Amino acid sequence: MIRTHRAGELRRENAGESVVLTGWVSRRRDHGGVIFVDLRDSAGIAQVVFREGAPAEQAHGLRSEWCVKVTGEVVERPEGNANPDLATGEIEVVATGVEVLSESDTPPFPIHGSDDIDSGVDESTRWKYRYLDLRRAGPAHALKVRAKAVSVIRRVMERHDFLDIETPYLTRSTPEGARDFLVPVRLQPGHWYALPQSPQLFKQLLMVAGLERYYQIARCFRDEDFRADRTPEFTQLDIEMSFLDEEDIYALTEELFVELWRETLGVELTTPFPRLTYWDSMRRYGSDKPDLRIDGLELVDLTEHMQGTEFRVFQADYVGAIVVPGGADYSRKDLDGWQEWARSRGGKGIAWLLVPADGGELRGSITKLEADRLGSLPAATGAKPGDAILFAAGPRRTTLEMLGALRNAVARQRNLVREGEWRFVWVVDAPMFEEVSSDNPAVADQGARWTAVHHPFTAPTEEWAENFHDDPENALARAYDVVGNGMELGGGSIRIHRREMQQRVFDVIGLTRDEAESKFGFLLEAFSYGPPPHGGIAFGLDRLAATLAGTDAIREVMAFPKASSGGDPLTGAPTPVTEQQRKEAGIDVRPDGLS
Ligand code: AMO
Repeated sequence: MIRTHRAGELRRENAGESVVLTGWVSRRRDHGGVIFVDLRDSAGIAQVVFREGAPAEQAHGLRSEWCVKVTGEVVERPEGNANPDLATGEIEVVATGVEVLSESDTPPFPIHGSDDIDSGVDESTRWKYRYLDLRRAGPAHALKVRAKAVSVIRRVMERHDFLDIETPYLTRSTPEGARDFLVPVRLQPGHWYALPQSPQLFKQLLMVAGLERYYQIARCFRDEDFRADRTPEFTQLDIEMSFLDEEDIYALTEELFVELWRETLGVELTTPFPRLTYWDSMRRYGSDKPDLRIDGLELVDLTEHMQGTEFRVFQADYVGAIVVPGGADYSRKDLDGWQEWARSRGGKGIAWLLVPADGGELRGSITKLEADRLGSLPAATGAKPGDAILFAAGPRRTTLEMLGALRNAVARQRNLVREGEWRFVWVVDAPMFEEVSSDNPAVADQGARWTAVHHPFTAPTEEWAENFHDDPENALARAYDVVGNGMELGGGSIRIHRREMQQRVFDVIGLTRDEAESKFGFLLEAFSYGPPPHGGIAFGLDRLAATLAGTDAIREVMAFPKASSGGDPLTGAPTPVTEQQRKEAGIDVRPDGLS
């Protein structure tokens, strides 16, 4: 064995032991002949002392990030010299020798003393030198949390007899509604695989196969734009069960979350998680992923109140507001800031009204509103003297969403988010369909009016089972999302297992029999062989791990993340391919063989 201990694990109990340690020179300090080296390995840091004489001479040439092997003896630090900030702070290692295992160039950013993820190093440098970035305690910790989470997940899934089954990555398009990543096929020029957007269809087939309980930690690929919580390549904890209802999914999820939070953070979550219907969530919070750590700041619906107004701004499908406690102190600049903010999000703007603390006259951008409507606004919204009322008006859904985003932004600005709390909620009874938006190219080109909100295999709620096709706008689905502190951590649904109902869904989303056959024929065929009632859920593993690691950015829990441009600064991917590779892969060949 090359070493006897891990440096970061040494404690007072080891005093007196002879040790051989390996690791990196985190820092070297020269104190008049005595040299101190902070030796770092994956377990942490220990201080090594090279006393005057031969050891110090050897240590003199050591530089940061050199990889070394140190021989020495563990001693207790003298009274008053302990370092309470270091787990090994009660001891130090008096070196008798050091061997250089490999030397290091000067790293592109400091590693010692920059343990926090957020250390000011720009992201593309971090990802390019991720192997150095991960020498820092903060970034490495995020990956350790993820590994711990995976271990807990496997234990819980196995306890409930779920089978871990892999499904193909080279396959055909799956129905999650994003753009596919395509892979050319050398053996069949002109034909392409799609990488799976999720294992959705395969896990349903495994239910037809009678396996009853499946799970997988699966990579998913969606050609989407980057956000803090969204990347084109990500990982799901994917689950499917037969002979179940929603309660089975809720119970399993809650058990899983309780153990995850207990074992990674030592936090005891309260269950069951509350449940909120999709429309209640939209109405109250302007979001289908409400952050319940924010006290109040609920949306107030003023549509009724503004019925018949002459005031143009409020002649809208929906008028709503939020009340900002103490917001009467907003300056003109603050309020203009909200205008800008709304416009940058594609909205028309935010109207405002200040309710002076001294009971004086209402001030705002809507004082041309009819006097009685204006005067009754504080009562209608619950605003008290000293508060501000911020309004938005327009089409119902987009305006609700604008106010929801405003709620989050105001809460952050005014410190109304109870940091350190964990608030989960199930958002249930989502709409089955939504109108196709022209900016979703994955569906817009089908020329249909409706698209499935979740995916087209999602069952309607019992009340809508017979007539969802007559009123797609209002039909509700047996779909559920689990939201934690305002982040959608997972989502799933009870599936359709009857052919006739499936056909009606395809009819609504404008998929002809031929199209359905060519896209999902293999699944539909399987469904002709006695499919069981089934359903499932998938969690964004990156989102779960990031949440547990205390960051919003899922890239922090990915070993080798890509930059927002989609490129990988480390390997340089993606790269152009040669003419020869194009030919071999058949990239330019059409399916009919012509090129
Ligand atoms: P859905 O599309 O809701 O459902 O995805 C499930 C969960 O995966 C995470 N997620 C993402 N994480 C990072 N980057 C992305 N681009 C990304 N997209 C999704 C989210 C989300 O809640 N097959 C269905 C599940 C089912 O019905 O069982 C599905 O994939 O946390």
